[in-house]
Order: sequence, then structure tokens, then C-alpha cells
Amino acid sequence: MSKKVLLIIVAMMLGLLAAGTESRDLHRLWDNRCADCHGHSGGFAREFLSVSNGNLQGRHHVVDLRRFLRNHYPPNNEVDAIYEMLLAQANTPPRFKEQCIKCHETAAGLVRDTLQFRDDELVSRETGQPLREFMDHHRKLKPNDVEFFVALLTRVAKEVHRR
Ligand code: HEC
Ligand code: HEC
Repeated sequence: MSKKVLLIIVAMMLGLLAAGTESRDLHRLWDNRCADCHGHSGGFAREFLSVSNGNLQGRHHVVDLRRFLRNHYPPNNEVDAIYEMLLAQANTPPRFKEQCIKCHETAAGLVRDTLQFRDDELVSRETGQPLREFMDHHRKLKPNDVEFFVALLTRVAKEVHRR
């Protein structure tokens, strides 16, 4: 086999691998397919989308945003997952941005790099410590805030580490 053919095969395998991780990780999917036009997903959801009676609405696409999405960019089978993610983001105040991005760039990045599910519990990849325990002693947060950030990171972890 020539070197060139081998290189092409390796490149194709890497491409497949990348597509595989992307399809599991919703935030990667967004970063690869949507961010060029729409920027960060949380910021986009809060700025352009709103929630009415539990339904997500766009500024332009007020009625049936899910149908709009089916005809827009997402691969068809991911529309529901993306819709749910944007709905959650439109419902979440930008507190990660306000209180955490000084040290952690994005919630998705933080979750991807440091956390994993062990059974159904979110724990530190490095130490195995449950997230809630860690947050109890991180940044001197009040119990309410711990509650909020654990819920936020758990939601994001379900989007990043989809099973
Ligand atoms: C090439 C640029 C481009 C890409 C890539 C893109 N979009 Fe869009 N998107 C647009 C434009 C332009 C509009 C507004 C036009 C319209 O209303 O039809 C829009 C509108 C939207 C809206 C409705 C906003 C509103 O106010 O009604 C949503 C939701 C949306 N896009 C989600 C996505 C998602 C999810 C992805 C990735 C899977 C994506 N877009 C990829 C250009 C893009
Ligand atoms: C002033 C800097 C700073 C701010 C602000 C900050 N963190 Fe951290 N964070 C760190 C450092 C440093 C580490 C890694 C060392 C450690 O274990 O404390 C970390 C680690 C983490 C981890 C990973 C834990 C693990 O097991 O690996 C999580 C989750 C986390 N922070 C959440 C948050 C959240 C949520 C906020 C916002 C409320 C926040 N952090 C704000 C500095 C910060």
C-alpha cells in the first residue's frame, strides 16, 4: 500500500471518529454546525429565543420552532435533542457566565473535561468525588446556589455525555 493511500485511510478513520464523538456530544454538534452563524448556544438561546407555555419560540419563527428546525441545519434525528437543549438554555439565567467563566470557559467544556457519570451520579473524573460534595466546598456557594449549579451541570452533562 502506498504511503498516500495509507494517509487517506487514516484521515477517513479520524473523520469517522470525530463524527462519532460529535453525534454523542450535543454541544460539539452545536459548535461544529451552528456556532459559525449563531455563536454560543446558551447566549443564542437567551438572546433570540423565549419560552411560552413550555414551548420554545424564536424571534422570527414564533410558531412551531421544531418544524422550522427540521428544515434548517440539524441532522433530522437530532432536532428533538437540540430543541430540548435550547429550551433548557432559554429557561436558565446566565449565572454560569456571571459567576464561573472567569475560571471556566464554558459549562460544556468544564463538564467534558472534568466530570463523568458513575451509574447515575455525576462525579469528578479525577477523584471520583460526587459533584454535589465538590460544589459544597467550591467558591463558598450558598446551598441554593449549589442546588442551581449542580442542576445546571447535570443537565449539561446529559447533553455532553449522551448515552
Ligand atoms: C449558515 C448559517 C447558519 C447555520 C450554520 C445555522 N443557522 Fe440557524 N439560522 C440562520 C439564519 C440566517 C436564521 C434566521 C433566518 C430565518 O429566520 O429563517 C436562523 C434561524 C435559526 C433559528 C430561529 C431563530 C428565530 O429567531 O426565529 C434557530 C432556532 C436556529 N437557527 C437554530 C440553528 C441550529 C440548531 C443550527 C445548527 C444545527 C443552525 N441554526 C445552523 C443561519 C444559520
Ligand atoms: C476563581 C476561579 C474559579 C471560579 C470563579 C470557579 N472555579 Fe471551579 N474550579 C477552579 C479551579 C482552580 C478548579 C480545579 C481545582 C479544584 O479542585 O478546586 C475548579 C474545578 C471545578 C470543577 C471540577 C471539579 C473536578 O472534580 O474536577 C467544577 C465542576 C467547577 N470548578 C465548577 C465551578 C462552577 C459551577 C463555578 C461557578 C459557580 C466555578 N467553578 C467557579 C476555579 C474556579
